[in-house]
Amino acid sequence: MPEKCSDDEFVDAWKRLGSISLVAHELGLSIRRANERRRVIENRHGILLDAFNDRRGFKILHPENKVRSIANITGCVIVFSDAHFMPNETSVAFNALLKVIKKIKPVMVVANGDILDGATISKYGPEGWQTKPTLKQELESVQHHMDAIVKACKGLNVILHRTIGNHDIRFEKRLAGLVPEYKDVQGTRLSDHLPEWSVSWSVLVNDNTMIKHRLQHSGIHSGYNNVLKSGISTVSGHTHLLEVKGWGDYTGRRWGISTGMLANPKSQAFDYIEDNPVPWSQGFAILSYDNTGRLLPPELAEVIDGVAYFRGSSI
Ligand SMILES: [Fe+2]
Repeated sequence: MPEKCSDDEFVDAWKRLGSISLVAHELGLSIRRANERRRVIENRHGILLDAFNDRRGFKILHPENKVRSIANITGCVIVFSDAHFMPNETSVAFNALLKVIKKIKPVMVVANGDILDGATISKYGPEGWQTKPTLKQELESVQHHMDAIVKACKGLNVILHRTIGNHDIRFEKRLAGLVPEYKDVQGTRLSDHLPEWSVSWSVLVNDNTMIKHRLQHSGIHSGYNNVLKSGISTVSGHTHLLEVKGWGDYTGRRWGISTGMLANPKSQAFDYIEDNPVPWSQGFAILSYDNTGRLLPPELAEVIDGVAYFRGSSI
């Protein structure tokens, strides 16, 4: 049988999909043939193509559309959200994130939505006469910061994944509404500009933790409502609240984690709050899984008065 793709194409598909059934489907190979290619490539290049996405098989139409399911995660997973990266702004929490990555060596980093603010492509009009950064300036800031995370993870064999936030989707939504003929043209999706990061609406880890930017509940009790109604631990952004709500029932202990905001609450991205007090907090969450894949009590890194703290010390 002729080889239908290059080794590089196969490895690229594997890194994105992590499942023999999904890779075979995308490349038009039989599962048997795809497995043969996998072994040949592993031997030829001295690499290991581990499956990390085998729980849902063909139920995942494409990881960008639905859930990405990742099994057999042990070790630490860092989840941050709501970075709203702006030009010429770098938050204390962002610098802390890079340091914590180097310190704890996570197996996965999840950008849990709203890396892009997209003020100029919002359906809402401007709040006043102030000048907003252009979309190009915002996109360059997103790439600059996301690249810095990729560099901090270098050599660690980390899965880099992002979930889609309601602000991120503005990038595609605007174009899809105005020029639908450009569908699938390179550069018209935010993911085209962040090739190292796989993307989906949500991520299910070890069948016990759902990570998603905006779960069904928002508001002050979102952590409680989300964990109560999801039946497994939940990790959500969007509210800018940073907290861990424990819950338990006959199925055992679980947590509703709100991942705060990587952005500074005083960033120009949030002028719309009109200087009102808000319970938002700069920081991110750290999940640890034991060697059976069970989620252990979650931890937070938090910025207070301009200083980031993690595990009882400043970072
Ligand atoms: Fe959001």
